[in-house]
Order: sequence, then C-alpha cells, then structure tokens
Amino acid sequence: MNHSIKRISVRAYGVAFFLIFMLGASAAQANDIENGKKLYRQCAGCHQIGPGASNSFGPQLNGVMQRGAAKVESFDYSSAFNEAMAPDVKWNSSSLSAFLEAPLTNIPGTAMAFPGVKSEDERTSIIAYLAAIDVDGNLTASTDEGAGKADSMAAEAQPRMLAADVEVPTHGVLHIGRAALAEEVAAWDIDVRPDGLGLPKGAGSAIAGVEIYDTQCAACHGDFGDGTGRWPVLAGGQDTLTDERPEKTIGSYWPYLSTVFDYVRRAMPFGNARSLSDDDVYSVTAYLMYLNDLVEEDFVLNSENFAEIRLPNEENFIADTRSKEPHFNGSVEPCMSDCLPGVATISQRARVLDVTPDEDI
Ligand code: HEC
Ligand code: HEC
Repeated sequence: MNHSIKRISVRAYGVAFFLIFMLGASAAQANDIENGKKLYRQCAGCHQIGPGASNSFGPQLNGVMQRGAAKVESFDYSSAFNEAMAPDVKWNSSSLSAFLEAPLTNIPGTAMAFPGVKSEDERTSIIAYLAAIDVDGNLTASTDEGAGKADSMAAEAQPRMLAADVEVPTHGVLHIGRAALAEEVAAWDIDVRPDGLGLPKGAGSAIAGVEIYDTQCAACHGDFGDGTGRWPVLAGGQDTLTDERPEKTIGSYWPYLSTVFDYVRRAMPFGNARSLSDDDVYSVTAYLMYLNDLVEEDFVLNSENFAEIRLPNEENFIADTRSKEPHFNGSVEPCMSDCLPGVATISQRARVLDVTPDEDI
C-alpha cells in the first residue's frame, strides 16, 4: 500500500516535471522566435520572407528549413553555392548555423556577401525564426505577440499609395506625367543640414541605440564600431589625421553630425535602407556619438539639442573662398583664344615633371 502510493506520487512528479519542462521550452522558443524576427532585419535587405515573398538579391526564405538547400528554382544560385550543396540536402540547425556564422568562409565563393552573425545565441534565434515560417510564409509557431499570427515583412513594406490611383493632370509645364504628391515630395525631401534644417521631430537615447546597433549594424560595422573585416569603421581614429594612413571616422574626421544622421537615415542598414524610424535614427546616432567618446551613456539626442552639437574636427574644414580672391573675377567672359600676346611656347613637358612613363616600360 505504502509502496504503491509512493510509486504514484513519483509518476505524478514525473508528469509535472515534464509539463513544466515543456512549458518552459515553448516559452523559451517563443522568445527565440521573437528575437530572431528582430535580428532578421539585417537579412531583410537581401531576403524577403512572409506571404508573397519573392527573390531579391538573395532567394526568398519561406520554409527554407523544410524545402531543401538551394531549391528555389527561380533563383540563380552561385555555382560555388550549388556545388557545395549535395543533391536533396536540407539545412539543419547546425549546418545553417555554420553558414550564418561566416558565409564567405563556410562556402567560399558564395554570393551571400555578408560578414556573418558572430553570436551563437543570435544565430539560434534567427534559425528558430526561419524554422517557424512555412513554405507559404506563414508563422506557424506562436510568439509573444500572439498565437499563429501571420507575419509578413513583405506586407510591412507595402507602398502607401500607388501612382495609378492618382488622376493625371492635363496641364503642367510639359503636359506629361503628373504633379508629385505632397507625400512623395516629403518622402524624397529628407536631407538634413548642419544647422539642423530638415530634421524630423523626434528623439532617441544612446541606450536605446544599443539594441538597434547590435541587431542591425554590428554584423558589418563591428561590436563597437571597429568594423568587421573591411567594412567601414565608425568609431575611433582620434589623432590619426596627420598619420600616413589616417583613420577617418565620425569622431575623428566628419565635420557635422547632420551627415551621420542623414547618411544612416538614407542608406543604412545597408540593403534595407529607410527601414528605421526617425526615433531609431536619433537613437543610433546618439549611440555612435557614445562609441566615439563624444557623449556619456545617458545622452539623449533630439531635434532641439541637435544643432548645438559640434564634432571635434569641424574647424579643420574651411569654406572654399577662392571665388572671392582678387585674381578670380567671375563676371568677366573667359578668354578662349589668343589670350597671351606673342607666340605660344612650351615651357614644360610631362616627361620633365616625371609623370610620363619611359617608352620602354
Ligand atoms: C548582402 C545580401 C545578403 C544578406 C545581408 C544575407 N544574405 Fe543570405 N543569401 C544571399 C545570397 C545572394 C544567397 C544565395 C547564395 C549563393 O547563391 O551563393 C543567400 C543564401 C542564403 C541561404 C540559403 C538559401 C537556400 O535556398 O538554400 C540562407 C538560409 C540565407 N542566405 C540566410 C540568411 C540570413 C539568415 C541572413 C541574415 C543573418 C542573410 N542570409 C543575409 C544574400 C544575402
Ligand atoms: C550588410 C552590412 C551593413 C550593415 C548591416 C550596416 N552597414 Fe553601414 N555601411 C555598410 C557599407 C558597405 C558602407 C559603405 C557604403 C559606401 O561607401 O557606399 C556603410 C557605411 C556606413 C556609414 C558611413 C561610414 C563612413 O565612414 O563612410 C555609416 C555612418 C553607417 N554605415 C552606419 C550604419 C548603421 C547605423 C547601421 C545600422 C542601422 C549600418 N550602418 C548597418 C554596410 C553595412
């Protein structure tokens, strides 16, 4: 009697333990998928995913773990990639992790020109996210955002208004096309000047910039802006400008912070430009300032304090005043013939200046 009660309770413990284990595992998995989705942004510039995803610079990745490696018929894989794949081999988490860690060394000659994701945890999350997306692009596992919610990067990138929806005006200077919509002009008109003109309203902290930078920039620009491989260095290089090989970074060389903001907002992350919100750009700009030792970690950059900020090398950039120099008089018609009195003489030859190679070279 005693004996069998003991048996039952041991079994009950076992079941309870198993349930707790499963709950724990699926929560961890949901976390991984959520995180993987965020980390996937660094891939999104080259790989579409989600319902209706098509190939872009890289193949679409719907169901990539199920469909077999190099299996998108409409995509022209590099020969190096095709050769590396045995027929009908499928990706599994370890082969994909090895590939994502360092694509260019894992498969030399691959067209996936991407330095790789160094952190194993991050690769695990990305792979969990990829594995959760079926061949139709639907998210099959539940995430913290809601069970089975269909997910689509492609859908997020829908254009706001189609050109065809707009009536073509019959007037206009050239009687062709149509006037640009105010929204279209606004979408193009994003330049920011050193005095802050053109800045969008917004704010972002260096601390908030850490996550954006780590997930969307560090793969190429290094954990601390030190640059991965030959990708651009974004921090450091102070006091190297007079060296034979100066290191020109935002902190050591760039004259204006507006260029940082404008460049990042316009062109980064590489391959997925214009995907950051204005506040994200403020945050990541603030974090780049922190990485360059220009501000403390609690710094918040916003549209109000922006124009007051000076980068260290600004004063070494000087305005081009040559047009104001006395020998330059822009209002006079330039002389195009017989400008010097007398016969023209040749005073120097390139060979004398030693810039023309000798004939027998
Ligand atoms: C700069 C563009 C680029 C980026 C960024 C990029 N990839 Fe790729 N990826 C490619 C290309 C191109 C291929 C095809 C490889 C070939 O043909 O050599 C590829 C292939 C793949 C494949 C194999 C697909 C198949 O059908 O077997 C996977 C999986 C993959 N990439 C995942 C990722 C993930 C995950 C990331 C982000 C961490 C990423 N890629 C970032 C361009 C890119
Ligand atoms: C897939 C790789 C990749 C990712 C991810 C990426 N960049 Fe870049 N970044 C580049 C390349 C390549 C250049 C140089 C482009 C050129 O010269 O045309 C560049 C240039 C820059 C520059 C100018 C550097 C200089 O000195 O000229 C800044 C600033 C920058 N990136 C910031 C960012 C930020 C911020 C992020 C994340 C939001 C980011 N990048 C994500 C590849 C990347």
